[in-house]
Amino acid sequence: MPPAPTFHIGPIPIHGDVILSPMDGLSDWPFRSLCRQLGSAMSYTEFVKAEEVLDPPKQIADKLYYEEDERPVVIQLYGDEPEVMRSAALRAQELGADIVDVNMGCPSRTIASRGAGVGLMRTPLKVARIFELLTASLAIPVSGKIRLGWDDDSQTYPLIARVVEENGGSLIALHGRTKMQGYGGQANWDAIAEVKSIVNIPVIGNGDVKTVADIQRMKDYTQCDAVMIGRAAIGNPWIFSRLDREQVSFEQAREMMLKHLEHNFEFYGPEMGLVLFRKHAARYLSPYPLSKEIRKKLLTSQRQEEFLSMLDDIFERVNLSPKEEEYLPGPRFRKG
Ligand SMILES: Cc1cc2nc3c(=O)[nH]c(=O)nc-3n(C[C@H](O)[C@H](O)[C@H](O)COP(=O)(O)O)c2cc1C
Repeated sequence: MPPAPTFHIGPIPIHGDVILSPMDGLSDWPFRSLCRQLGSAMSYTEFVKAEEVLDPPKQIADKLYYEEDERPVVIQLYGDEPEVMRSAALRAQELGADIVDVNMGCPSRTIASRGAGVGLMRTPLKVARIFELLTASLAIPVSGKIRLGWDDDSQTYPLIARVVEENGGSLIALHGRTKMQGYGGQANWDAIAEVKSIVNIPVIGNGDVKTVADIQRMKDYTQCDAVMIGRAAIGNPWIFSRLDREQVSFEQAREMMLKHLEHNFEFYGPEMGLVLFRKHAARYLSPYPLSKEIRKKLLTSQRQEEFLSMLDDIFERVNLSPKEEEYLPGPRFRKG
């Protein structure tokens, strides 16, 4: 008998309770698919501007790309114009998305000040209209990813969560910060518990899950159906297999970096693939105390062969270091 689903989004069964966050510039196909293989329970695309889904240039088409083994796939849209959102959502459905998600969390000034992203948290009637239109027009579930609100004095999350549910939405993901908090301060897990207690649709909790222990801690504290992990997954996709970074062997780290890099080369070509891998490389290597010069040389390398040979060299040095405990401060990192 196949294992029972952990929860459902509309009719879609979800197996697992930890999910990679959508992150613009980071949760692209190469990284997302690796996280999915390691245990992330579903795949969210990076957010895409509604207007651009209708006739996507290459860069946007890349963001909408997914493979079958990633399903359930969520295409996340941002926008504030209900009719444009509907057209884009219909296009996302045609592209094969299992779920369409409305971004109500992006704090970027250009997006939020025009009333999209977290700007929608200030306009509940517009959220109602968008969800009413989308849920009436689509055959697939529609979900919303929200924040607490604009600022401490305008925490509209309980209202917006209800509006999403009452207008047919099938899931709420809540990042427990306001727009004004950005990514700083502490995420408010009480708010996640509150939303879980007032809606009957599933709730994904998000914000400050950094370790394997945090996953269960957030679940116990909030009763959320699943936990979403963003920044802590960069450099540690193994968190989806419930491994903290210090439990990952040196060989596993090496293998993953090479596999990720290969995906990037395949997907973006050698030049762009390398450039877009830098942010990940810095995080994969962060436990190893490389000299500033080596780190800089690696992370500014322009050529595939040079980068790979430097990486080999780095791994060889870490591996051969006779006094690993001196070379690797802090928690001990096992070799493969
Ligand atoms: C670089 C970056 C890009 C992000 N892009 C998106 C996005 O495209 N869509 C979205 O809903 N949230 C986006 N987020 C927010 C994350 O999904 C998540 O809500 C936030 O980082 C909090 O989770 P964390 O504490 O686990 O990182 C982004 C966050 C970061 C750091």
